[in-house]
Formats: sequence, C-alpha cells, structure tokens
Amino acid sequence: MLRGAIVGFGKIARTNHLRAFYDIRLNDKVIITSAVEIDDNIRETIKKEYTGINFYKTQDELFEKEKLDFIDITTPPKYHKSIIENALAKNVHIICEKPFTLSLDEADKLYHKINSSNILFVPCHQYKYSKVWSEFKKFINEMHDDTKVFIQFNVFRSGADPGLKTNDEPWRLNKEISGGGILSDTGFHYLYLSNWLLQSPLKVTTINNNLSHPKNEIEDTSQVILEYEKGTVQINLTWSFHSRRNEAKLISKNGSLFYNGEDFLTKNFDGFEEQIAVPNISDKSHYTGLYVDLFSEFVEAIEKSKISKEGLNEAYNTINLLTRCYQSATELKSIDLNNE
Ligand SMILES: NC(=O)c1ccc[n+]([C@@H]2O[C@H](COP(=O)([O-])OP(=O)(O)OC[C@H]3O[C@@H](n4cnc5c(N)ncnc54)[C@H](O)[C@@H]3O)[C@@H](O)[C@H]2O)c1
Repeated sequence: MLRGAIVGFGKIARTNHLRAFYDIRLNDKVIITSAVEIDDNIRETIKKEYTGINFYKTQDELFEKEKLDFIDITTPPKYHKSIIENALAKNVHIICEKPFTLSLDEADKLYHKINSSNILFVPCHQYKYSKVWSEFKKFINEMHDDTKVFIQFNVFRSGADPGLKTNDEPWRLNKEISGGGILSDTGFHYLYLSNWLLQSPLKVTTINNNLSHPKNEIEDTSQVILEYEKGTVQINLTWSFHSRRNEAKLISKNGSLFYNGEDFLTKNFDGFEEQIAVPNISDKSHYTGLYVDLFSEFVEAIEKSKISKEGLNEAYNTINLLTRCYQSATELKSIDLNNE
C-alpha cells in the first residue's frame, strides 16, 4: 500500500483527487494518510470532516510525523516550486496539479533537479484520458498519410473558478499567484492536448484581451493559433461568457469530428457518418474518472519501479509553450518554435 499526502486541501483536492484515491480501482493500493493545509480556519473545519486524515500546517510537520511514498500537490501555482523542492529533498514521488510552475524560469530550475533524481513526477494533465480527446487522437491516427487537420477548441466560461474561498478575490485573478489568466488556467489543458494530438508545434500566435476584468492585469480572453506539420489548431478561451460551454471541431479532407459540448461526437470519415457516445466534458463528476486513470498509472509505475521522465518533459514543454504564447501576445507577433 502506497502512503500519500495531499498538499493544499482545497476544491480540486476534495472534489476530485481524494474521491479518485477512494475509488475501488485505487483504494487497495493507496492510502491518503495526511494533508497539509496552510489556512488555519480551513484546517480546523476539515479536521472534523475528514477524520481519517492527519492535517498539518506545514510540510516540515508533515515530513516529521508521516512516513510517505508520495505527495499530491493541489495548491495554487505560486506554491508548487517550493513544495516540489521539499518533496525532492525528502525523496518522495510527486503528483502535481497544472500548471507545473508559475514561470519558465522556475520550471528551468526544477527540471534538472527532478530529471537527475529517482523521483517519479506526474503532472495532472488528465484530459488525455478523456474519451472525447481519445476519439480526436484516433481520428488523426486513422487519417491518410499526407492529410492535414484544422482543429478548433472553444472554451467559454462565465468567470474564473473561485476555488473554495468564495468570499476572497479568486486567486486565479491574481497574476502573482496564478501566473496568468484563462490561458494559463484552462488554456494550459488545451496546450498539452494539442501537442499530444499533433506533436511538436512549429509556430505560435496569441492575442489576449480583457473583456470583463478591465482593471485586472490577467487576460480573461485568449486566442491561440498553433501551427504543426500535421495541421493547425485554434484555441478560443474566455471568462466573458454568460454561461459555460465547450465545443471542438476537427476538419480534414478525410472527414470531420464535431463535439458540441454534450454527450456525443459526430464523426464523418471517408463519407461514413456515425455518432459516438461520450461523457459530457463539463460534467465535473466525469473528471474524477480521469484522475483515477492518471493516478492508477502513477501507482503502477512506482510499484514496478518504472521512473519515466515523460510527465516531467510534458509539464516542462507545456510551460515553455505557455510562455511563448504570452511572449507572442506581448510582442504582437508570431513566435517561431522550430529550434526549441
Ligand atoms: N487539472 C484540472 O482540471 C484542475 C482543475 C481545478 C484546479 N486545478 C489546479 O489545482 C490547483 C488548486 O486549485 P483549486 O481550485 O483547488 O484551488 P483552491 O483555492 O480551492 O484550493 C487551494 C488550497 O491550497 C491551500 N494552500 C495554499 N497555499 C498552500 C501551501 N503553501 N501549503 C498548503 N496549502 C496551501 C489553500 O488554502 C486552499 O485550501 C491549482 O494549481 C489549479 O490550477 C486543476
């Protein structure tokens, strides 16, 4: 049985991570013995609610009292770097929520330390386990060799997720804590997803706007265009919608794949049309299943001592791409990624 601790006992920790660890596929392999929660009020409340977990204020107390195999980091991005450094010093494996770090500079500093260690690092890039995006990947794999695709992701929200502390200003609107706006928050998923679908990007162009948070330095709306050998991707993101909606389209000479944000995909391939049932990606309960898949791979890799650096490389490459997106938006030009 692997022994783990959650660091940052907020919304995603409670609604998805803990539930995933309690899932039947994991609960005989992993036990969450403990957690670190920095906020005194939250800690006092959760102590009463989650009686099987030992809560601590700091990582020092945690490591002093608990014998651990891994930690699972679910704090806002600003705190990821120092928590990762502490975990490396204590030689425990790491699951880390996205985005990996606050900046590329931080990622550079951590990359070499993690890469030269015997620690398994897995970022929460759980969208890759979704049936919707697996169908997109399958379509691309089935395409005739020289066919190119155009993919469009539309991600519309009514605002930044406030996390658990709904009476404070959401940390997602504070650049010092989040690193950026919707692009670094939800957009991050679509950056690693685009690379997973189409490999290494050649060029990026980004336009960022602020439609409904004019006094804020973060972007609430972002348009990203990524160019690949196999085609091009357009990612449209906004926190300035009146509701919540996801859409995705893949278009090619071989056919198309449309996701209208509900529970089926319409696939047209070589003139044959079919509807494929999928879970609605806005349904948060479906998220837990994706984490179960991700954590199961993490556990299996530790059990088999397979310390791959794949997750670390993907986390680093995505922060690098995110940084190039912001560079493009600031310098008002496309950024060539050919030599990276
Ligand atoms: N992969 C996904 O789909 C997904 C979805 C939501 C959130 N996230 C990520 O999860 C992380 C947390 O987001 P959230 O919405 O749960 O936020 P949240 O504000 O609800 O929870 C964060 C918790 O961490 C605590 N905390 C802050 N600093 C700490 C520290 N140094 N040590 C211990 N505890 C600390 C806070 O008090 C809070 O309880 C972010 O990185 C976010 O991007 C990922």
